[in-house]
Amino acid sequence: MAAPAYPRPTLAVIGGSGFYDFFDDGAVDVAVETPYGAPSGPVTIGTVGERTVAFLPRHGAQHQFSPHTVPYRANMWALRSVGVRRVFGPCAVGSLTPQLGPGAVVVPDQLVDRTSGREQTYFDGGGVHVSFADPYCAELRAAAVQEGVGDGGTMVVVEGPRFSTRAESQWFAAQGWQLVNMTGHPEAVLARELEMCYAAIALVTDLDAGVEAGGGVRAVDVFAEFARNIGPFKALVRTAIAAVAGDDTCADCRVHDGVQLPIALP
Ligand code: ADE
Repeated sequence: MAAPAYPRPTLAVIGGSGFYDFFDDGAVDVAVETPYGAPSGPVTIGTVGERTVAFLPRHGAQHQFSPHTVPYRANMWALRSVGVRRVFGPCAVGSLTPQLGPGAVVVPDQLVDRTSGREQTYFDGGGVHVSFADPYCAELRAAAVQEGVGDGGTMVVVEGPRFSTRAESQWFAAQGWQLVNMTGHPEAVLARELEMCYAAIALVTDLDAGVEAGGGVRAVDVFAEFARNIGPFKALVRTAIAAVAGDDTCADCRVHDGVQLPIALP
């Protein structure tokens, strides 16, 4: 087989449209097909400091995928098939506590899945059950936590695309959960099944409906707040990338060691 015409990226970022100018210099777009269909867009490969990094637009280049229609399985498969073993998932979140206002950045350490009907495994044939007690890679989390970034918190992932009702939001907060979002699942578990390290990096864009007395969350405000913070947020992701040591899956995220898999990982 011919060698690919691009350097192998071992680390990836899955992000929103504000990340398109993420790379230092000329990046290349690589179209990748997978057994699960096409990913959200081409995988862009470029350099960030010393490192070759892949970027995938979670919602597509034209933001054509809603949180519940993102091709999560194809996305994670595509990244692994170009060589990626470690993934940062920056995302917008609502806050369930007044202590975390818009502009705050948090590296969650737990998630709660409140989605429904999303494809969330590569192992439909049965027999493979990955450990998911700690859904995020400890090494990547440590690389992402830096000055001004919150360390830990539970992110509840709702199905969307609607925002939560006030009662749902108050219920989430009463459970002691801090963050709410629509894309954090199944990204993390699919990374785990593919033995890729994964950490979410959450930018708070709003106080969720149960926290704020006003009229509830509006998408237009969420997008505006994300755009307002995108510069510092990208800088923070770049700092996280520079802090990652090594190119391969860490020992803890090699969850299939000794397990006979029914499908070969790419
Ligand atoms: N993403 C950003 N803000 C959100 C919220 N309040 N609920 C769900 N997802 C979000």
